[in-house]
Amino acid sequence: MAIERTLSIIKPDATRRNLTGAINQRFESAGLRIVAQKRLRLTRERAEAFYEVHKERPFYGDLCAFMTSGPVVVQVFEGEDAVAKNREIMGATNPAEAADGTIRKDFAESIEANSVHGSDSAENAKTEIAFFFSDGEIVG
Ligand code: CMP
Repeated sequence: MAIERTLSIIKPDATRRNLTGAINQRFESAGLRIVAQKRLRLTRERAEAFYEVHKERPFYGDLCAFMTSGPVVVQVFEGEDAVAKNREIMGATNPAEAADGTIRKDFAESIEANSVHGSDSAENAKTEIAFFFSDGEIVG
């Protein structure tokens, strides 16, 4: 296993319910370090660019509208096997399929309002981290 970095987003359904601390606690207690973090409101253009890979999917428009509906918290996590560990702690995309004890099982409202996003590979993590953070904003 290697020390990796991954991008996490706490989504508008979770910031609306004041769950930022509760969600961060799950990641930190599993050994991931939050080495960068900021709260911001995505514009429609930025949401569309971030999720461009899903452009042809039927849920793309609704997803971009949801992601601009309130503040998000974008974060960089660092740790052993951070990409896979983050995904394990989040649980399956659809909360109905998420394992017990995962963030999405416990907090998600729906497949769209599923509380958190995490990069799905080390390669995508690099692109997604660079989308939100400059090198100087990441303090390991
Ligand atoms: P996320 O990990 O942010 O990546 C894409 C998002 O699209 C996903 O989480 C969900 O919030 C959202 N989404 C909405 N509908 C679907 C769907 N049917 N399948 C996959 N993702 C969906």
